[in-house]
Amino acid sequence: MSGIFITLEGGDGAGKSTQAELLGQWLEGRGLEVVRTREPGGTRLGAELRRVLLHGGDEIGAVDARAEALLYAADRAQHVANVVRPALERDAVVVQDRYIDSSLAYQGAGRVLDVAEVRRISEWAAGGLWPHVTILLDLDPKTGAGRRRARGGSADRLESEADEFHAAVRDGFRALAKADPHRYFTVDAALPIDEIHTRIVGRVSGFLTR
Ligand code: TYD
Repeated sequence: MSGIFITLEGGDGAGKSTQAELLGQWLEGRGLEVVRTREPGGTRLGAELRRVLLHGGDEIGAVDARAEALLYAADRAQHVANVVRPALERDAVVVQDRYIDSSLAYQGAGRVLDVAEVRRISEWAAGGLWPHVTILLDLDPKTGAGRRRARGGSADRLESEADEFHAAVRDGFRALAKADPHRYFTVDAALPIDEIHTRIVGRVSGFLTR
């Protein structure tokens, strides 16, 4: 496998999709095949799981923390097997919104589950595949929530969680980045869009000359 696997992480409203789009365009401009994808929901099965996880509402009742972690892991297994690995095998660059680190931050740090256990099931689901680089768009959750409100639309199940949950998720991401500075690249998501993009490109360029 010789493609490049890049993931973007961060809280809700941190600007991951915008930056993933810009990075994808930049990589395509360098003549590379880019696969833009996301979790949850990057496959047909995943789209069903995403609907249940984020918009299940009263119809599914309260979701147990372990059940939630396993549903994200199921989405991941299907996605890695059907989208990510095949792309990497044909030397494409995968630019993905959210991956294992989201499970560690949301189901682990944000909930009651042990981060090491969430890591174990997620790693198993992904067949041990880790990204070459993970970009953390770090933002105060209050700013992220304000941006989401400004975009309009209603909050999904996770977005509706209490402020403490989102603060714990942010701390979780920061701790992960600190523990793995080789893989993680943290950018202040309050910076202007262009500036964030420039920093991300600076980091990713290093991989293109391997
Ligand atoms: P999404 O609309 O993709 O969020 P965003 O636009 O903020 O990236 O929704 C994904 C939600 O699912 C988000 O609130 C984070 C959550 N999530 C987990 O809790 N665990 C996971 O493993 C993943 C991939 C996402």
